[in-house]
Amino acid sequence: YPGLGALASLAGIYFGTAIDNVVLNNTAYTTIAHNASEFNQVTPSNAQKWMYTEPSRNVFTYTNASAIFNPARAAHQLRRCHTFVWHNQLPDWLTNGNWTAATLKPVLENHIKNVAREFREDCFAWDVVNEAFEDDGSLRKSIWLEVLGKEYIEWAFVWARKYTEGKAKLYYNDYGIERVNNKSLAVREMVKDFLARDIPIDGVGLQSHFTVGRAPTYDEVTAALNLYTPYHPTIETALTELDVRILLPSTPATRTLQANVYVNATRACVEMASCVGVTVWDFWDPVSWVPESFPGYGEACLFDEGLGRKEAYFEVKEYLRGV
Ligand code: G3I
Repeated sequence: YPGLGALASLAGIYFGTAIDNVVLNNTAYTTIAHNASEFNQVTPSNAQKWMYTEPSRNVFTYTNASAIFNPARAAHQLRRCHTFVWHNQLPDWLTNGNWTAATLKPVLENHIKNVAREFREDCFAWDVVNEAFEDDGSLRKSIWLEVLGKEYIEWAFVWARKYTEGKAKLYYNDYGIERVNNKSLAVREMVKDFLARDIPIDGVGLQSHFTVGRAPTYDEVTAALNLYTPYHPTIETALTELDVRILLPSTPATRTLQANVYVNATRACVEMASCVGVTVWDFWDPVSWVPESFPGYGEACLFDEGLGRKEAYFEVKEYLRGV
């Protein structure tokens, strides 16, 4: 009985899920998470972030990531890796350090070097830099921008290429770039500039954290993906963190709208030559990041609390079956 991953692969893309370490002791969850027919790609939601991989300076720990990648490897699931450079979930030693460009630059290189080498055989793609832009298209203020200046982004890509030894696709990943707007246009400019200057970059990840009633339409997602078509096949795209939150309590009508949003996003990827796959930002409501970050919203995933498949799941499956 084919799952989403198997059907997606017939449609020419992967269909994957994020997996968080907090639920790995739940075998009902892991049986689905590591069923390659259901999800033929996985991304660790947290395990590869800096606070977990380098909790003390130059002390690297990969326990959380291994707990996800060992079974994923055994199940022949593609592994997307997330993320080298972000402003969030940094260890205290880094956040509280008194840095100058001269002292922070080698810290960033050393982090990418160690983590990239550790996962050299695992990652078909890396989110090298995550969420570096503001909605208005300016660069986000972060420790990286403030201490190193805007060059930190290209340094990260150069080091990522070097230390992955060219084995991983290098992505820029962000949210709010699923429409043509100031932010997505700024990302496109960065891609164009990198290609013109031979800074290595292979892909753009559109996170796709959507809300019922405010989600981009099929045409809007298509237009956002199309921003990179001039650079395809050098540049590929992916929907990297898809979820669709609903104002609670949900109703049959909002659950149907949610299903439409999931299908439209999946269809936009299937139909766009550059788009290689869709990853849901976990498939199970109880581990979704949404309720904590958006009080009053939830039920954003494809599987409900009892691990029952929702309308959105069946509609995506129906769509993929028909491709
Ligand atoms: O590690 C602690 C654990 O020790 C403690 O017992 C537990 C108690 O709540 O908290 C754990 O930390 C949590 C961590 O996830 C690991 O589960 C944090 O509180 C929680 O805030 C954190 O949330 C993550 C969030 O990034 C942080 O910003 C979400 O799980 C994760 O899904 C989310 O993922 C991000 C992507 O990386 C980038 N794009 C947006 C996306 C959604 O925010």
